[in-house]
Amino acid sequence: MTGSPPTAGATAGLIAQGARIFFQETFGGNGRTCGTCHPAEADFTLTPEFIAALPADDPLFVAELNPDLAGLENPDLMRSRALILENIDGFDQPPVFRGVPHIFDLAFTAPSAGAATSQISATLP
Ligand code: HEC
Repeated sequence: MTGSPPTAGATAGLIAQGARIFFQETFGGNGRTCGTCHPAEADFTLTPEFIAALPADDPLFVAELNPDLAGLENPDLMRSRALILENIDGFDQPPVFRGVPHIFDLAFTAPSAGAATSQISATLP
């Protein structure tokens, strides 16, 4: 980590706003939040063990709970391997199964990864 700790009021406010969006905002969708698949209490990822401990009405299970959304997931693969069906290649392409990555590496994997990588490279001997 570089920079100062987020002590300024404005920064703390933005962090709180981000947390609210991440853990509470459903974007008018199917009831899931970002935290549904990236739960903080499981290091922002999903495992079969974590899924097995969720209540039956958890929004993660919308494909099982709402017949209109039956094709959204493969419940067997989600429960046994924590695999999520994703439209990574566009909605006109077949969906693919993906595990849920934690989000601790965003400085390296997000679109701004190049900047972070350059910054780190510059500090390496
Ligand atoms: C239905 C489950 C699900 C939900 C809901 C979800 N994600 Fe994800 N997320 C995934 C999966 C699966 C991947 C991996 C995709 C891949 O392999 O390309 C992923 C990948 C990511 C990544 C990339 C992490 C990395 O290191 O590359 C980020 C960041 C992320 N999600 C943020 C979010 C945010 C922000 C939201 C809410 C707007 C959200 N996710 C909602 C399942 C989910």
